[in-house]
Formats: sequence, structure tokens, C-alpha cells
Amino acid sequence: GDAKLVTHALAQDTLSKLRDVETEQVGFRKGLVKLGRICGYEIIDGAMETEYVSIETPLTETTGQRVKGLDDVVIINVLRAATPFVEGLLKAFPRAKQGVISAGRDEEAGRGEDGTFPITIDYVKLPEIQEKDTVIVADPMLATGSTMCAVLEEVLHEQPNPEDLFVLSAVSAPEGLLRVDDEFDEADLLTVAIDDELNDEGFIVPGLGDAGDRAFR
Ligand code: PRP
Repeated sequence: GDAKLVTHALAQDTLSKLRDVETEQVGFRKGLVKLGRICGYEIIDGAMETEYVSIETPLTETTGQRVKGLDDVVIINVLRAATPFVEGLLKAFPRAKQGVISAGRDEEAGRGEDGTFPITIDYVKLPEIQEKDTVIVADPMLATGSTMCAVLEEVLHEQPNPEDLFVLSAVSAPEGLLRVDDEFDEADLLTVAIDDELNDEGFIVPGLGDAGDRAFR
């Protein structure tokens, strides 16, 4: 697949506020919502076609444009940190179908020798995916990629391949991007930043801390 950065100035501005340790819970949550919206617009801009349509203004008939495919979008919310991020995406894709997956790293098991974490999946509820769909799997953090690979496995299991598959994150570690790209070549990776490294506990550095905790606690 492809790996692309969301370079929009507002995305970088918003991400910087999310990184800031002074940003408290409400600001953090709102920042994730805003970032989700901007990333949604970027996906529309980069991957969706428009068509010309005739419209009537209050004065006359004219030609306008319409984004195609907005009715065929599936957004996967990886609990829990993705929830505010998805809320923002829904502002760009208001008619999207939604899937929910609860997946978490088993931190007590620790990082394996290959650098990955075992993943526990507690809950999966997915809409049917169709070939014409654009599927967006959203999780603000892509660290070792363990969570995302487990989620993609669930999402793609016994479903037709969608037309487009986006893995969307706010902050990614190089290791995680490489792993997801390696295991799911069909996925396009989209992230607002690629950070330097993972520390020994598997946290992204410089990163933004634990997105789930910062948004919900
Ligand atoms: C965090 C984050 C990702 C995952 C990334 O979730 O939101 O889901 O870790 O790490 P990985 O790429 O190494 O798998 P966490 O397990 O802390 O759950 P939470 O969202 O409920 O806080």
C-alpha cells in the first residue's frame, strides 16, 4: 500500500496541541474530533471522485459538483481512543456506516521478542462491507501495529475486498507502519505524523502519551 502524511497546516496545528502535556481532557477530546474532521476532508480530497450535476439556484439552473461515494463509506472505531477521532470523521462522512471493535494490547504479557504485543479482542460489531465501499479504520495511535493488524484481520475476515481501505492514525511509529504495510498490502496508510521511535514499553516518542487515558480519564 501507500503511506501518506496529512500535511494540512490545521492538522499539524491540532496535533501539536494534542502532543502538549498542558492540554487537558476537554481540549484533548476536542482536538481529536477536529483532527478526525480534517483527516476526513483529506481522504475526500485525495481519494474520492466528484461528478458534475445540474442544480437549480434560487435564480437559475447551473452546473455544480458532487462528491461520489459518500454513501458507501464504512468507518471502524477501534475502542476506546478512536471514539472522538471517529466523531470528527463523521462530520466529513455523515452517512457512513460504523463498525466497532474493542481491541487492546495485553500490556502485562509485555512486548514479545519480535517487538509486538499480544492483542485481546473483546467486542466486534461490523456492518457488511461491499466491494464499492471505502473503509476507514481509525485509531489515533499506531505504535507496534499489533492492534491494527488484529483489527484488520477481523475487518477483512470473510468480507469482500473494499474498493479502498484506509488505516488512519494521528501519530505513528515507523515500526507500526512497516508492519501494517507488510501484512496488509491492500491498505493505504494515512497518518498526521511519523514519530521517531518506540520506547521499551512500546510508547510512541515523542508521541502524545496515552490517547485513551487523556481523552477519557
Ligand atoms: C492504544 C492505541 C492503539 C494501540 C496502539 O490503545 O489507542 O489502539 O494502543 O498500539 P499498538 O500499535 O502497539 O498495538 P490501548 O491498548 O492503550 O487501549 P485504549 O485505546 O483503550 O486506551
